[in-house]
Amino acid sequence: MSMQAVGDDDRRPPVNEVLEAAQRGLGLRPKRLPSWLFYDERGSELFEQICEQPEYYLTRSEIALLHEHRDDIAATLGPDVRLVEYGSGHALKTRVLLEAMASPVSWVPVEISPEPLRLSVQRMAERFPELPMQPLCADFSRPLRLPIPPRAPRRTVVYFPGSTIGNFDARTAIQLLRKMRGEMGDAGGILVGADLKKDVPRLEAAYNDRAGVTAAFTLNMLTRINRETGSDFELSKFAHRARYNPMAGRIETHIVSLREQQVRLGRQLVKFHEDEAMLVEYSCKYSTEDFAALAGRAGLRVHARWTDPEGLFGLYYLVRGSGIAAT
Ligand code: TRP
Repeated sequence: MSMQAVGDDDRRPPVNEVLEAAQRGLGLRPKRLPSWLFYDERGSELFEQICEQPEYYLTRSEIALLHEHRDDIAATLGPDVRLVEYGSGHALKTRVLLEAMASPVSWVPVEISPEPLRLSVQRMAERFPELPMQPLCADFSRPLRLPIPPRAPRRTVVYFPGSTIGNFDARTAIQLLRKMRGEMGDAGGILVGADLKKDVPRLEAAYNDRAGVTAAFTLNMLTRINRETGSDFELSKFAHRARYNPMAGRIETHIVSLREQQVRLGRQLVKFHEDEAMLVEYSCKYSTEDFAALAGRAGLRVHARWTDPEGLFGLYYLVRGSGIAAT
């Protein structure tokens, strides 16, 4: 939306995006809160701690896969790649990748929050002083205008680690993959990490760590809403809940009201009954077959795939696929 010089618009008070999003979500039945609300400064910190919890195998497995197969992955991507990363991410993964890649053209981290973006560029510049970096502060789920690369790349590879693809429902995930498919061009590819289906106790433990870091992470959403909208959620009256839904093949994370209560949200009163749950996140789990089918529906095919012997995590290299799947 563009700014207007004259007219009614500029007399409106500034929009409180957090309040609007919370009111919209809590007006739905069942109630929900959008997952972007997780990632304020404290939330980003807590998320980094989640990645270090013993139960949260995803990050460790993905990094181990990259280490184990770095040469094969680098050979698959080829030389002179422009690497576009969705989310500025855990610097560790990207480092392993860039170390193995032959003469990368540039690294383009795409991140919606300016501060994490600045930090990851700073950290990366210390390790790769020669590597051209073209940070893009933008929402990666929207169409992107990629900066002009410093020299002609052989291909553009979109890197999307962390099983973040699983945080979108299938329909939206397909839209996102299609968008990436456009951005990478004919010769391009997508390197994407996705958590695998596995036994339910192991899945649920990853989202219910004993130290309570994940619980603190989800409840921090309410702290943020309180701070940024002057609301009065009492944290002791809500609880984190993450359960695997086997029919849908996903972990569903909720914040549950522990009693009947009313909360002031801006000028509105929001009622909760006992055990009422607000949905805050999906974490979809894909078997390798599931993932190939998802890619197919986005006009892509799995060109290469790396998984660990335990079958915990999947790393996929997707390229354009022809045929019926593309339409
Ligand atoms: N991409 C991560 C995942 O789905 C995000 C995440 C980790 C997460 N832990 C969480 C999201 C807890 C919500 C709640 O695993």
